[in-house]
Amino acid sequence: METSIPELTLHDGVTLPVVGLGTGKLRGNAGVNAIVSAIDAGYRLLDSAYNYENEGTIGEAVRRSSVPREELRITSKLPGRYHTYDQAVVAIQESLYRANLDYYDLYLIHWPNPKQNQYVEAWQALIDAKKWGFIRSIGVSNFLPDHIERLEKETGVRPTVNQIELHPFFNQEAQRKWHEAHDIKTQSWSPLARANDVFENETLQKIARKHNKTVSQVILRWHYQLGAISIPRSSNPRRQLENISIFDFSLDDADMNVISGLARPDGRLRNQDPAVYEEF
Ligand SMILES: NC(=O)c1ccc[n+]([C@@H]2O[C@H](COP(=O)([O-])OP(=O)(O)OC[C@H]3O[C@@H](n4cnc5c(N)ncnc54)[C@H](OP(=O)(O)O)[C@@H]3O)[C@@H](O)[C@H]2O)c1
Repeated sequence: METSIPELTLHDGVTLPVVGLGTGKLRGNAGVNAIVSAIDAGYRLLDSAYNYENEGTIGEAVRRSSVPREELRITSKLPGRYHTYDQAVVAIQESLYRANLDYYDLYLIHWPNPKQNQYVEAWQALIDAKKWGFIRSIGVSNFLPDHIERLEKETGVRPTVNQIELHPFFNQEAQRKWHEAHDIKTQSWSPLARANDVFENETLQKIARKHNKTVSQVILRWHYQLGAISIPRSSNPRRQLENISIFDFSLDDADMNVISGLARPDGRLRNQDPAVYEEF
């Protein structure tokens, strides 16, 4: 039986489920099978990127699945090497051709690459691609408040979503509060901290035992109660189902605070600070 995932509404009216499927590394036939199995389980939001080289895999899974295209929410992201306006427009078109889709529901600038200083141009391309019907909603990923303020100041258009690294070891409290104050939804990438160490964490294990849930479910419930959209990746049908079976229990304030207290200043998984890190 399919699990139904609650939705939230972005400031432009587009709706997104509160949990989606991360698809980094899901490619080829095994990737298609994993994505189809997730859709069968109840996933409707699929997170992809030009740089994951799997937009074709996403498109094939959408065609093989029995769920109508309009019920799905498909995301892709613009790579750093195509931030000039003309390159960005072509890359968005190429993203669509690769997936053989008519439109993306959400398209993000993958990284701001502030040293390159072309993200406002890239944003203008996303704004126009939305006008042309290629994209329903436009957002960013790994942007700091200063970067987002510049986008709005120079183009008048505020992103609907900022997808950022967020997990119990790096909880992004200040950035989340800033998003809330500006009506921007937070999406959590690597929500399970890539399964490194989290599952052995005794504090999380204790909370999981108390609720008769798994550590993964406790973490994903924590994201949900923070108001963030998480996009856990799993290629395993049992774990895919586990990760969306989080709507029949809740964490109390004490649980939430204890989990948020696991954060460390150096908690980023790969030291990718958007102020200096660049990805092309
Ligand atoms: N915007 C960005 O810059 C950015 C950066 C990184 C990632 N992302 C996006 O975020 C998505 C998720 O992040 P991620 O893939 O880095 O890491 P993640 O979702 O935190 O962790 C994925 C790992 O967790 C394992 N896993 C999943 N569910 C589990 C469960 N219930 N129990 C035990 N293990 C479980 C998976 O293994 P199995 O497959 O074997 O279950 C996989 O090894 C990516 O796929 C991508 O779409 C975006």
